[in-house]
Amino acid sequence: NINMPQNQEENIKNITFLNINGEIIVKPAIFLNIENQQSGKGKYPHFMLKEIEETKNVIQRISEIYKNENPLKIFTKNFINKFNNIVLIGCGTAYHASAMGAKYLEKIARIKSQAHIASEFRYSNPIIDEKTLCIFISQSGETADTIACMELAKKLKATTIALTNVLYSTLAQNVDYILPVCAGREIAVASTKAYTAQISIMYIIANYINAVKQNLNFNYYQQISSLCEIVNNQDKETIQSIAKEIAKTDKVFFIGRDLDYITCEEASLKLKEISYINCSALASGELKHGFLALIESGTPVFVVATNPTLLEKTLNGAHEAMSRGAKIIFITTLNVPKEKTKGFYKCINLLETTKDAAPITSIIFFQLLAYYTSCEKGLNPDQPRNLAKSVTVE
Ligand code: G6P
Repeated sequence: NINMPQNQEENIKNITFLNINGEIIVKPAIFLNIENQQSGKGKYPHFMLKEIEETKNVIQRISEIYKNENPLKIFTKNFINKFNNIVLIGCGTAYHASAMGAKYLEKIARIKSQAHIASEFRYSNPIIDEKTLCIFISQSGETADTIACMELAKKLKATTIALTNVLYSTLAQNVDYILPVCAGREIAVASTKAYTAQISIMYIIANYINAVKQNLNFNYYQQISSLCEIVNNQDKETIQSIAKEIAKTDKVFFIGRDLDYITCEEASLKLKEISYINCSALASGELKHGFLALIESGTPVFVVATNPTLLEKTLNGAHEAMSRGAKIIFITTLNVPKEKTKGFYKCINLLETTKDAAPITSIIFFQLLAYYTSCEKGLNPDQPRNLAKSVTVE
């Protein structure tokens, strides 16, 4: 449905695909919309920084595409009622987006949902059937383990959806429904804007399903526009100064609860991927079950707190770590009285937002932190050692 210039259409007619036996294969043409996508780094020193900064535009694009084409129209009442549960599957950063998506679907849409790591799921003899909706999250749509899970789900008669950035990918071409991530080309190995786009879309899906279930009017255009405003509000100088210190350390921890815990997992992955620092994320309620033994004087611990009902609990965890010598870097979207953060090394206030949308803001802080730490160490954040953008083999 895209208008192609005459000569390009002619060229496409002249392409023939053959199989290994020399027989003609008919392949439908897919037109790629690559308008407005710069392929170079432009004014940026690295793709990663450029891609983080593109997030605001990506969210705007999501709002336009989802408003005009409404890919969510598949979620009718009948469709939703067909399923007992939703299973979300991905690898790496896409697994973290799956974990966030599952939380959103349970909290907001009140549908039983679970996230799985693709390489585990495919060998777990999973209980899924025609009453299961499987959502596969993948930036590239080519990750071998995620594709294997999609094939397994189809064999077991589940309904399949791909939330992917590449609409002509193997994953997209083989599922029942496609939801576009709309992030534009992502080149840096460490995923940034695609993750933020994936969790934003999962947030919208959960709200959309909730609205359908309860016969509410849902204006997702307005909802996502308000997210746009919050994404580009990071104090880069402060982040750079923290990165300078982090670059000198050999271990870093991230603690949080609920959605913030998933943000911590993604923050930890981002930092270790491109700075090679040994990082771990912990649910802050687990501190006493091992983690505290690792704290030494000056160990950096990032504490994420965006949920007012969990604030006190998270602060307790921060104080426990601090009393063992940890340097606490406290990241919050909440208005926390100064006396409660006394003794913390740094307190970073991110723009206030609703607690469910907070992961969309807070992860950008950590993406930038990872980026600047990598640069500080003289590494190339775009191409970390031993890692690939897309893992197409097991
Ligand atoms: C690799 C990349 C990660 C990515 C993961 C999953 O490990 O380095 O950035 O999150 O694969 O990739 P996908 O394309 O399936 O999202």
